[in-house]
Amino acid sequence: MNNFEWNFPTKINYGPGKVNEVGEIAKAYGKKAMIATYARGGFLDSIIDTVEASLKEAGIEFVTFTGIEPNPRAQTIDKAIDKFKAEKCDLVIALGGGSVIDGSKYIAATSFSGGKAWDYVVLGDRVPREYTGAYPIISIPTISASGSECNAGGVLTNAETNEKSFSRSPYRFPKVAIVDPELLTSVPLSITKDSCVDIFSHLIEHYLSSHSESDFADRITEGIILTLKENFDKIITNLSDTEVRGQLALCSIFGWSGLQALGRTGSIPMHSIEMPLSAIYDLPHGRGMTIVIPPYLELMADVLPHRWAKLARRCFGVTEQDDLKAAKLLSVKVVEWLKSTESYLTLSDVNIPSDQFEKMADDVVRMFPGSKANTTTGPRPVTKEEIIKIYEMCK
Ligand SMILES: [Fe+2]
Repeated sequence: MNNFEWNFPTKINYGPGKVNEVGEIAKAYGKKAMIATYARGGFLDSIIDTVEASLKEAGIEFVTFTGIEPNPRAQTIDKAIDKFKAEKCDLVIALGGGSVIDGSKYIAATSFSGGKAWDYVVLGDRVPREYTGAYPIISIPTISASGSECNAGGVLTNAETNEKSFSRSPYRFPKVAIVDPELLTSVPLSITKDSCVDIFSHLIEHYLSSHSESDFADRITEGIILTLKENFDKIITNLSDTEVRGQLALCSIFGWSGLQALGRTGSIPMHSIEMPLSAIYDLPHGRGMTIVIPPYLELMADVLPHRWAKLARRCFGVTEQDDLKAAKLLSVKVVEWLKSTESYLTLSDVNIPSDQFEKMADDVVRMFPGSKANTTTGPRPVTKEEIIKIYEMCK
């Protein structure tokens, strides 16, 4: 087991109708809030109204910044930062899915620390700027997927360069996450499916990339995967089930909280390989993960076969005793699972052509370099040629 430091400073305020309490909760953290959210005109409109009404009732001033995109753009976030500063806000209320919450973290920390949002992301050999602090954040997740509602990570897309990258800062942990399962019932079926696969991707990244062993982390991860699978089956038959939405909300939060990787933190090659799909083609992140996961599992099965085999046996019913044979069954079982929930997708299903595979792989090895030239980090360095091969297998 590796040494680690871990904390979970975000208070979770869970329950149906909890969104109505945002005004009272916000009083402890600021006087003038920026509500950061998606563009109006979608299923969130009435929820934006609810948040505004609650703040008004509690006597909290606010401005509402709409228009944060799925795959939030640094250029949009910079506009929000300008508005936050011009309006002299001192609190961000992030109302949305991972994209909005990620973007809100950059609003809160960049407004405090100066510069542009993109200055702070990891980008190849560049040393990212460091925050000096952040304004407080209250997250109100409207989708269960990223875990962003309770963690310090955040992904941004640069629309000028078609790059997508991330950063992490302890200043950006939300102070409170208001997790209201009634809000989550408004998520449509296709986004619900994408979200469940994104949660799965978070659970398997470190499980399959670390060379350290931690029985505790393995059992936590396996327990969340089994909970996710059971509740995935339930939610696609009844999107309005608040009990099931609540269970998926916990899978989202703790699936990417660090708890699932205590003592065996690894790398996130599947996310790195997906990044160009979202950056270049604006594909929703969870949908991109759905496409990338099976070929990655197939191509890399022989790298850490005992880890692949453990996951296959404990979460997908594989009984094969030979590790390498069991490892190779993992991608087969995951494809079966995705097909059983009608979630399985290929690049052609989302109309992504094959003419940019070389550039996409170049982007991955440049932005997230591994220990050897022309590789990205993984359980061993993943070569540019292997990344292209994975895209080929996604067709
Ligand atoms: Fe993800």
